[in-house]
Amino acid sequence: MTGDPPNRLLLAAEQVTRIYRVGARALPFTSPPHVSAVQNVTLMLHAGERLGIVGESGSGKSTLGRLLMGFDQPTHGRVLYCGRDIREFSRTERFGFHRAVQMVFQDTHGALNPRLRIFDQVIEPLDVHRLGTRQQRRNRVHDLLSKVGLPAAIAERYPAELSGGQRQRVVIARALALAPKILICDEPTSAADVSVQAQIVNLLDDLAQSERLTLVLVSHSLAVVRHLCTRVAVMHSGCIVEEAPAEVLFHEPLHPYTRALLGASPALARRRRRSTPVQSCTAISSPSGIGCAYASACPDVAELCRSAAPNLIELVPAHHVACHKVTTGRRSEKRIEEDHAGIGA
Ligand SMILES: Nc1ncnc2c1ncn2[C@@H]1O[C@H](COP(=O)(O)OP(=O)(O)O)[C@@H](O)[C@H]1O
Ligand SMILES: [Mg+2]
Repeated sequence: MTGDPPNRLLLAAEQVTRIYRVGARALPFTSPPHVSAVQNVTLMLHAGERLGIVGESGSGKSTLGRLLMGFDQPTHGRVLYCGRDIREFSRTERFGFHRAVQMVFQDTHGALNPRLRIFDQVIEPLDVHRLGTRQQRRNRVHDLLSKVGLPAAIAERYPAELSGGQRQRVVIARALALAPKILICDEPTSAADVSVQAQIVNLLDDLAQSERLTLVLVSHSLAVVRHLCTRVAVMHSGCIVEEAPAEVLFHEPLHPYTRALLGASPALARRRRRSTPVQSCTAISSPSGIGCAYASACPDVAELCRSAAPNLIELVPAHHVACHKVTTGRRSEKRIEEDHAGIGA
């Protein structure tokens, strides 16, 4: 359990970029094609927060999750845990980091070893970290299974003998074994059917409170993020295009891509107070690599959008947007307000 004071900065990405090489060289002496899965992302995670990372498939959410976990290394930039670059950790510090930050993946088949009993899989991290006596570890396994709502008898079974929902609970139990401070969940519900999804969401909600977890939820499901998260970052083409407290983002989305994403979610579109223009959220990156990656699909595109990439700017406290149109609009609104105030004075 975390003993951190609320709002302590736990994990941060500082201008993180991850470039992957893909495919082969087209011609000799040419460099192989590459993809910037994550581009210049700066993100902070404070103790007790529940951060949602949303965006369509391929927008870089999982890559960002892996970078935050230290499973993958940034090409540029750095990831800091409690103010220290995670690449500079000593062996002992790295051990501590991997205890404190755990991940739950979507694919429960890949996460569990089909040949090991559930008991052996849940006790494994406790054995690796040599926590307590053998008897204490055994008790902890049963305690963990009960925390995630599974009967003790499950411990004797193999993954193939469980339902998808039960397997996801086992994965969560194992992630909790080392009492992490931060749980990063990558699409934890998308492999499950609707009723199981709701159960997993409620379970994560309860566990975040009872275990005092700081949560990062990577999801393409806006409804799940809305239910669970206090802050949301929207990703598009590897960049964060908008970041705001959840209530603000769902009620007053500013970036045209966020508005399209919310419009494309029927459950949320019904709930939204104001309707906003809905544009296809299948965006094509700027072919030249310069300018805004959303420009080709954006209903509000301006000339500047095609020539210069917008920076993520804090327009109002805690609400960041990367959009030329929104920022220039807000600036001129502000200027008009100031002029009015000047006239009134
Ligand atoms: N290991 C990898 N090698 C090459 N390309 C990758 C790798 N991992 C991810 N990508 C690419 O990076 C982009 C972002 O992928 P990902 O982070 O999985 O997105 P998301 O989780 O939002 O669907 C995609 O274009 C994907 O093909
Ligand atoms: Mg993913």
